[in-house]
Amino acid sequence: MTAEPGATPGPGGPAVPPGREEGKRRAAEAAALLVGDRMRVGLGTGSTVAYLLPALARRKLRIVCVATSPRTGRAAVRLGLNVQPFDRSAPARLDLAVDGADQVDRAGWLVKGGGGAHTREKIVAAAADRFVVIVDGRKLVPAVRAPLPVELLDFGLPATLAAVQAAAGPVRLRPGGRTPDGGLLADCGGPLGDPATLAAALDAVPGVVGHGLFPPSMVSEVLVGDDEGCRTLRPGG
Ligand code: 5RP
Repeated sequence: MTAEPGATPGPGGPAVPPGREEGKRRAAEAAALLVGDRMRVGLGTGSTVAYLLPALARRKLRIVCVATSPRTGRAAVRLGLNVQPFDRSAPARLDLAVDGADQVDRAGWLVKGGGGAHTREKIVAAAADRFVVIVDGRKLVPAVRAPLPVELLDFGLPATLAAVQAAAGPVRLRPGGRTPDGGLLADCGGPLGDPATLAAALDAVPGVVGHGLFPPSMVSEVLVGDDEGCRTLRPGG
């Protein structure tokens, strides 16, 4: 990602314009206030979530967190949050999950996975009773568009790439892009067309581990931060 003029670094993230940082911070801090004592909380990944973690740590709640990436897990532990593995020893449900997004369209479809964590992020979002998305205002788009991240298996890759390309346009593998689960990261060049149709088509390709389209039905609310403050959008509401 290239830095825009006047950019400032986020907390551990890439350089972005100052107003954008403020929007991310406001959305993240509003989400931290939604967390209650003793909750089980899913933590997303990215530069917006990087503002959530200290806001959550400052509240000194007795919560148990699961992290969608090693990066988030390490940052949360450094701040004193209790992070547990989301493995077979863990309860199946979470009270709340909070995560960023690359795009949010008018109907509430998300594109996620800019950070390559979309498969774990979708598992955590689907396991949560409430999934809250935190974005700055520039993430709002009329309709989702490329690039669309996907995670693929190595086995059968040529067949998988051909099927994904037929559904979502040219596919570019991310150089060195591997998830902690061993998947290959790639981005589809679109056009994306109707997100529900595309999501179903990608779900039907056996070698696709996960894709970055998250349906509105998964999203409880979207907190949108900007220079003015923070507002709440509810898909379908
Ligand atoms: C990572 C994600 C992120 O939530 C998404 O890329 C947004 O990141 P940021 O808050 O840095 O803009 O999906 O896989």
